[in-house]
Amino acid sequence: MKNIILIGFMGSGKTVVGKMISEKLNRKFIDIDKLIEEEQGQTIQEIFSDLGEGYFRKLEKEMVVRAVKDGNQVIATGGGVVLDPENMANLRKNGVIIWLAVSPEAARRRTQGDGSRPLLRVNYPEQTIEELLGFREPFYSQADFKVETSNLSVEEVVSKILNFLEGGEGNE
Ligand code: S3P
Repeated sequence: MKNIILIGFMGSGKTVVGKMISEKLNRKFIDIDKLIEEEQGQTIQEIFSDLGEGYFRKLEKEMVVRAVKDGNQVIATGGGVVLDPENMANLRKNGVIIWLAVSPEAARRRTQGDGSRPLLRVNYPEQTIEELLGFREPFYSQADFKVETSNLSVEEVVSKILNFLEGGEGNE
């Protein structure tokens, strides 16, 4: 069985949605960022500040390669994984890719007060979110299916994805 891959911006709900899907479908859940943190013995924030974003992207790329060796999993990715075409090719090999889309306002609301995201530890996170989201949109849109999550509960997002996976709904 193919992996179910969740992509999307910070605050789009990849982790919480992924966990719920994995429970409902009785599949293993993995979170690429969490695996990197465990292996590195550092938080994402520490990796960015000690080793730099470039180094994090290298770790992320290696972790994607390893994660997709197994099938039948639900995989939550970091928001920037889509920027590297090789990551996308690897994720797609044995995976169906789901984009959890989010508006800038919802992304801001959901990430506010959470210092764990180095890219948003800036003076004007609203502006950074707008810029990053705009730039990344074409990358996220390579997904097989898109769910607009901004005004939906986790349960509603999960149910849309399950419906799609069962063949009930085409790409939005
Ligand atoms: C990033 C998103 C983060 C994490 C890192 C970089 C990004 O993951 O991988 O801080 O470039 O958007 P989440 O999307 O889980 O917050």
